[in-house]
Amino acid sequence: MSCVIGGLSLANPLCLAPMAGVTNAPLREFFSRLDVALTHTEMVSCAGLVRGNVKTSAMLRVSPREAPLILQLFSPDAETLARGAEAALTLNRQDGAVPFAGLGINMACPMPKVTKRGAGAALLKCPAEAAAMVQALKKFFLPVWVKIRRLEDLDGTLRFIETLAAAGADNVCLHGRTAAQR
Ligand SMILES: Cc1cc2nc3c(=O)[nH]c(=O)nc-3n(C[C@H](O)[C@H](O)[C@H](O)COP(=O)(O)O)c2cc1C
Repeated sequence: MSCVIGGLSLANPLCLAPMAGVTNAPLREFFSRLDVALTHTEMVSCAGLVRGNVKTSAMLRVSPREAPLILQLFSPDAETLARGAEAALTLNRQDGAVPFAGLGINMACPMPKVTKRGAGAALLKCPAEAAAMVQALKKFFLPVWVKIRRLEDLDGTLRFIETLAAAGADNVCLHGRTAAQR
């Protein structure tokens, strides 16, 4: 049941969602053995990557035995996002690790510690910056996936998705609850 989703050729349509504190390399490898075709890292802080934070960098660890994976990043702005992605891809290359299949942007996390800094679901209120973030990642020539939340109204949600698509997003994953619904 092979398929193409978001610019990636996958063996099947089963993907493991990103989960902070959960989807580390051993868990992703476990799901890969259950034939999940694509996994995600947990959301990784671009500010942490730019600072060279050791704990943040450790989140980039990839097992050679896991399925293709998307590196999901979070940042309040396009500039920090691009610098974080650059740092992550450099570390990945230096480690000689399996390359990431794509780059993800978290625009869905409703947790106040993330949104109060302007990242995660806070970006749903900033379509121009959200579009700039997609464009900033396109320069790495990898598929760009964005995870968003439903907005209060359907039209607004569709407009936001169209903005991301026009900016070059290869895939938009929609979490069906609003950020306020957690
Ligand atoms: C513990 C936990 C951590 C999560 N972390 C992330 C994350 O890092 N990035 C992200 O985009 N979504 C994250 N999510 C959301 C999930 O990817 C998924 O969209 C959500 O769980 C689906 O809704 P449901 O749990 O009601 O089925 C997380 C969810 C849970 C339960």
